[in-house]
Amino acid sequence: MRGLIVLSCVAAFAVCLALGSAAQTAEKPHQYVGAAKCKTCHQTAAQGSQHSLWQKSQHAKAFETLGGQAAAAVAKEKGIEDPQKADECLKCHVTGHGVKPEALAATFVKDGVQCESCHGPGSDYMKMATMKGITSGQIEAASVGLVLPSEKMCVGCHNEESPTFKGFNYEEMSKKIAHPVPAERKAQYKKEKTE
Ligand code: HEC
Ligand code: HEC
Ligand code: HEC
Ligand code: HEC
Repeated sequence: MRGLIVLSCVAAFAVCLALGSAAQTAEKPHQYVGAAKCKTCHQTAAQGSQHSLWQKSQHAKAFETLGGQAAAAVAKEKGIEDPQKADECLKCHVTGHGVKPEALAATFVKDGVQCESCHGPGSDYMKMATMKGITSGQIEAASVGLVLPSEKMCVGCHNEESPTFKGFNYEEMSKKIAHPVPAERKAQYKKEKTE
């Protein structure tokens, strides 16, 4: 009798554990890892210099901008004291603003409009095998949280809610931030896939 109680308790406990971990996997968010992580594989000319192109762009400086005089003037008009601390400004000027702490990896550094503002939080797609699988068409980008951005994504920030908005032309603006993988390199993946 006693043995039976112990047994059913153990069984119930195991069920609880199983349920608990299932719920956890379902809820575990993709985490933001920060641009320095992407740099390890998206840096050389052969790869397409994505990190240095980004670093030279206004996106990389978007947090810094909030500390400047132009920002102070915009903020003053709205009665905001420090734009670098105001939700009303940070929501478009930094990556991962307002997300739950568990969606930020230990490596994440809050700074500007980083890769993951446009490509989605990277913890589940940034492994070499996963990245290659996406490029060769074997893994669906969305299934691991990778976003291949379009105009719709840009206008999430480039819109009239931006106090300095002067319109947004996707064709023109996407040329200014272009950072493609070189064609020869991409062709290699297609070849590997068909072989
Ligand atoms: C461990 C290496 C590695 C890391 C880290 C990494 N990538 Fe990649 N990524 C690759 C490789 C390899 C490819 C395939 C293209 C190539 O060879 O350049 C790729 C391809 C991509 C693509 C194109 C996918 C497609 O549709 O073809 C995007 C977008 C991308 N990476 C974004 C990122 C972002 C953003 C980060 C940081 C969160 C990141 N990557 C981190 C190795 C990496
Ligand atoms: C998370 C918000 C956000 C998203 C998403 C975003 N941007 Fe931006 N973008 C900004 C901010 C903020 C600035 C201004 C940064 C600064 O000057 O400090 C900016 C500036 C720019 C600039 C430089 C300004 C200029 O007139 O030359 C270009 C070009 C640009 N974005 C293109 C794009 C494109 C194309 C997309 C979509 C693929 C995009 N942005 C998506 C927030 C965003
Ligand atoms: C402002 C938004 C934005 C930011 C910031 C951004 N990207 Fe992109 N990225 C794009 C867009 C738009 C494309 C083109 C998507 C397409 O062609 O379908 C792209 C394409 C790519 C590609 C694939 C290129 C190809 O030829 O298929 C890679 C790799 C990539 N980005 C990596 C990065 C990395 C690494 C960073 C940060 C260092 C970064 N991106 C920052 C918007 C962005
Ligand atoms: C809806 C998104 C969004 C919000 C909210 C936002 N910005 Fe921006 N900000 C942008 C974008 C996109 C750009 C670049 C293009 C433009 O000016 O619209 C930008 C550019 C800027 C610039 C550079 C303008 C220039 O002409 O060089 C300053 C300064 C600035 N923002 C300050 C602020 C301040 C201060 C706040 C808060 C009161 C704020 N922004 C809120 C999206 C936003």
